[in-house]
Amino acid sequence: MIEIIQGDITTLHVDAIVNAANGALRGGGGVDGAIHRAAGPGLLQELKRFPGCPTGDAVITRGYNLPAKHVIHAVGPIWYGGTRMEDQLLAKTYHKSFLRATESGDIRSIAFPAISTGAYRFPKREATMIALTAMLEHEKEFDRIVACVFDEELAALYRGTLDFLRRRL
Ligand code: APR
Repeated sequence: MIEIIQGDITTLHVDAIVNAANGALRGGGGVDGAIHRAAGPGLLQELKRFPGCPTGDAVITRGYNLPAKHVIHAVGPIWYGGTRMEDQLLAKTYHKSFLRATESGDIRSIAFPAISTGAYRFPKREATMIALTAMLEHEKEFDRIVACVFDEELAALYRGTLDFLRRRL
């Protein structure tokens, strides 16, 4: 089942939340900052085990003080105008996040923010289509897939896009 929730991903009681991280894996602003603040310092300590993470890939850690058991730190592409395989890289970021969840073996519910649509400036309409297409491809592997978007306008875009994609399938 795919759910669209407007709100703060750090509050969700799911097995894993996905973080929109950067390649250094040392925290940042946006949802990355919110997740580190809510999880506490243990998150950064565990992330220091990783040398970094390439764009399009993801690493998994514990969730510490978050309600979620795990955090999957995914590195989405920066938008450079669409000339550097950004679409394919964003899709890969979602697929790799699902792979890390499957590998963990204890994740039946997973929530995603709108990866790359903030500081990384990915166009919202294209990013939403890529996100929901990937979620639909993995829908049967999980009990719950949540698209957790922060603002109402984006939530409306997610709802309209999911309706469109479901009618097309
Ligand atoms: N819960 C859910 N969504 C959130 C939250 C939150 N608490 N805070 C922000 N968002 C939304 C933003 O509104 C945006 O739609 O997450 C989406 C992704 O925005 P960013 O967090 O800016 O992430 P991104 O565009 O992928 O840029 C990543 O920003 O914070 C740094 O370290 C991060 O360098 C990395 C870059």
